[in-house]
Amino acid sequence: MSGQSKERFMKPFIIGASLLFFIGVAATVVLPFYDEVMQRENANAAIKNYSIDSPEYRGRQVYIREGCHTCHTQFVRPVKADSSLGPVSVPEDYYHDYPHLLGSVRTGSDLTWVGTRWNEQWHRVHLNNPRQVFPGSTMPSYNYLSDQDTEDLIAYLMSLKPAPSTEGR
Ligand code: HEC
Repeated sequence: MSGQSKERFMKPFIIGASLLFFIGVAATVVLPFYDEVMQRENANAAIKNYSIDSPEYRGRQVYIREGCHTCHTQFVRPVKADSSLGPVSVPEDYYHDYPHLLGSVRTGSDLTWVGTRWNEQWHRVHLNNPRQVFPGSTMPSYNYLSDQDTEDLIAYLMSLKPAPSTEGR
């Protein structure tokens, strides 16, 4: 095959691959913006519309700064493995979650509804030294955080629970 005919042979593949790529981008990135469920909040989202001067808002900033989302997810899938976590996540839950903290790797557990599992004192002990409550834990100790950051972070974690009206949805 000469060089020239090889090039002719490649053209449809490049055009075809580009087309497929753009269709893929449109279907996964652009079209969802026009989906009605992405444009409205539900009760779970409403209670997470933290005002900028609230401890929960500041705690969320600490969560991002410390990279908690690199080990913890915040989405409950409709699968058996997630059935003990709480209500399955829906797009409306994330209306105010910006930048979103879905995460992608569950090195630690899913924290979507972690506010229903422990109390503030447990979080203080756990953040100070995870191995005190989970022997052999690979979670780093956050004992270097200021008291303010720790309390704000705990306020954020405690806010991660379903709105009362949707509990047991
Ligand atoms: C290197 C990975 C890693 C990082 C980073 C990490 N964690 Fe964890 N976390 C874990 C693991 C693993 C567990 C499971 C229990 C254990 O071993 O401590 C856990 C458990 C937890 C739990 C208990 C969850 C439950 O379902 O009972 C909470 C709450 C938590 N982490 C909060 C945080 C917060 C807040 C941060 C950031 C300040 C953070 N984690 C950062 C790995 C991590």
